[in-house]
Amino acid sequence: MKLTRRRFIHAVGAGVAGGYFNLPVFAQSSELNLLKIPDLYTGHAISGVHHYDLVMQTGEVNFLPGLSTSTMGINGNYLGPTLRFRNGDDVAMHVKNQLGEPTTLHWHGLHVPAKSDGGPGQTIVAGSEWSPEFQIIQSGGTYWYHSHVLGKTGEQVYKGLSGLIIIEDSESSRLELPSSYGVDDIPLIVQDRAFHEDGSFIYLGSHMDVMTGMHGDTILVNGTVAPIFVPITSRVRFRLLNAANARTFNFAFDDNREFQLIGSDGGLLNAALRMRNIELAPAERAEIIVDFSDGSPVNLISRPIPAESPFAQQGMMRNMLPLSSRSIQLLTIEPQATLEQRVRVPSALASIRRMNESEATRTRRFTLSMPMGMGMMNMRGGQGRRGGMMYGMGGNFLINGKPMDMMVINERINMGDTEIWEIFNDSMMTHPFHIHHGQFQILDRNGVTAPPEELGFKDTLRVGPGQTARFIMQFERFSDPDTAYMYHCHILEHEDNGMMGQFTVI
Ligand code: C2O
Ligand code: CU
Ligand code: CU
Repeated sequence: MKLTRRRFIHAVGAGVAGGYFNLPVFAQSSELNLLKIPDLYTGHAISGVHHYDLVMQTGEVNFLPGLSTSTMGINGNYLGPTLRFRNGDDVAMHVKNQLGEPTTLHWHGLHVPAKSDGGPGQTIVAGSEWSPEFQIIQSGGTYWYHSHVLGKTGEQVYKGLSGLIIIEDSESSRLELPSSYGVDDIPLIVQDRAFHEDGSFIYLGSHMDVMTGMHGDTILVNGTVAPIFVPITSRVRFRLLNAANARTFNFAFDDNREFQLIGSDGGLLNAALRMRNIELAPAERAEIIVDFSDGSPVNLISRPIPAESPFAQQGMMRNMLPLSSRSIQLLTIEPQATLEQRVRVPSALASIRRMNESEATRTRRFTLSMPMGMGMMNMRGGQGRRGGMMYGMGGNFLINGKPMDMMVINERINMGDTEIWEIFNDSMMTHPFHIHHGQFQILDRNGVTAPPEELGFKDTLRVGPGQTARFIMQFERFSDPDTAYMYHCHILEHEDNGMMGQFTVI
């Protein structure tokens, strides 16, 4: 379905609110396209085990009118199906690599044995198949999967190797939340991409793209350029996934309407939170419920990160991402004339027990740093530029002074232990720190307790420039002295250039 540009501009112009709202950028397409919804894949059960066949393949997509883009996808040309699992299910994944190059497939946020994790240690060589089997031990929520191949995660994810995972558990399905997939339960996989004039993807066009992480000027939602969504119910659950390589989105509506945040990375919150915007860095998820009962059109946008935000770029990094200071159009929403009424959001959702610091047996400390000249030292000079600063030196994104090395296990953790991890960001930009093996709870940043929207389970933690942030996590159930899990910055160019480490649970 295509809509005209005129209608689009009308929709965007409606109801501008908020102090720093500019005209949306990135709305360069002349037509709107109906938001694609990835296929829902529930697998097939054979004697109690749920089997999923996933083929990682290359493809061609017409993102831009009349032009074709070489892509990668899973069971399709771009992105993959939405995998649905139930808590407690035994699953068998059959992942075929038909890319013609090595890859891996990682289940982001899932608590699985290291061998089944799909990190850089579980390479699937070209032409072969990887078949991990594991049990789903997970709260109902929104997770995702993506390529995690050493050194080329950024490129492969950029080309399309990611998809959503929806997990249901008895707790979450008992609640009357919108849950008809593609009707009132809508995945929004949000990414930014850049294109050459011939339609091919631009990936790492300049050294800056490594330094800041790869940013593009065209938004894709579920692989759709200039998408429009037509709600047919009064309330819709959006499952927001920031699947960008590097860009942080500050999700909001252009009429500044309120929405309810019901879930974060690791499942539902204890209670819905009324909000008007939510910042998600790469890999972070949020489940929100939006009310369309007034029937008026609205746009999902990304507002700029205010310069005074603790997560805003500092010093010279600020000059590197000028587009971050503008609002970005993400999704046009035009509710159908008559809407099916939906029940209100229940007030009590999950029952998460907050972990206590005293449960931790130890604190591990990590310092994140970027190439020479990008450290906190330079912040004192404001925008000052040091002589000899170089971009894209490769391998200079470090954790505790070391780049990722497949031959080194950086940390060994005793199974069953609860630990506090303290992350110090010694650089001028925010790094979303992600750890495999499971979910954690954020304690604080610079001693300030995490805000309510971050008090659920999380697997990715934003650490602003100069900040020290802490989380608490239990390393339980799976031990394997020979196979490592990863922790890393989820700006994929930082990860690919060294800002990653390995740990085993023993
Ligand atoms: Cu989203 Cu190490 O991964
Ligand atoms: Cu992960
Ligand atoms: Cu980073």
